[in-house]
Amino acid sequence: MAFTQDWFSKNIPVWERLFAPLKGRPNLQILEIGSFEGRSACWLLEHVLTGEGAGIDCVDTFMGSMENAAWGIDTTQLFERFKENTGPWEARVTAHVGASDAVLPKLTRVFDAVYVDGSHTAKDTLSDAVLAWRLLRIGGLLIFDDYGWNLYPDAELNPKPGINAFLHGFNGWFELVHIGYQVAIRKCAAYDATRKNRAPELK
Ligand SMILES: C[S@@+](CC[C@H](N)C(=O)[O-])C[C@H]1O[C@@H](n2cnc3c(N)ncnc32)[C@H](O)[C@@H]1O
Repeated sequence: MAFTQDWFSKNIPVWERLFAPLKGRPNLQILEIGSFEGRSACWLLEHVLTGEGAGIDCVDTFMGSMENAAWGIDTTQLFERFKENTGPWEARVTAHVGASDAVLPKLTRVFDAVYVDGSHTAKDTLSDAVLAWRLLRIGGLLIFDDYGWNLYPDAELNPKPGINAFLHGFNGWFELVHIGYQVAIRKCAAYDATRKNRAPELK
């Protein structure tokens, strides 16, 4: 395996709970926006996408994010590392090389879960969630990474304002499943004001 970073393992206890009902389900389809070296995708492939016909669509520029350079993270050969790491499950992986705002409008598949972990600016996180929503089946899970990420003093360079904008705008159309360092919601069939999410973070 050719991993140089691990931004994922801390999420495993929450993901084990979130994905328990989906584990091993035939034809399960997951969309990942932001795959980097494939660490989160490999966990899904090993532990969740094990049923007949299951697969993952991975969208990434494979050029890294703006914070990577500041941290001295090597993004050369990123796609090659992703392919090497996901190689054991090659038949279940569809890679889309490009910016999410260009790739997502072209996708036609319906997904059971979407993981938003691409560009971390608020505007891109909001855009990814809006574009992914139409691809998510009713009852499907939308998971945002890095709700608690606070790298930049300018709030709009962090994901949280984008995630909050989405949660406010789509309030009543989803059920809040988890809120912590990550946020997970389940898409509902129709608007229901009684279901509105009143988490303190969204006041
Ligand atoms: C934090 S990493 C993903 C980590 C991965 N999910 C994991 O847990 O191992 C973010 C990724 O998003 C990609 N990215 C950044 N901006 C993007 C954009 N506009 N469209 C698609 N991918 C983007 C970067 O190339 C990087 O690989």
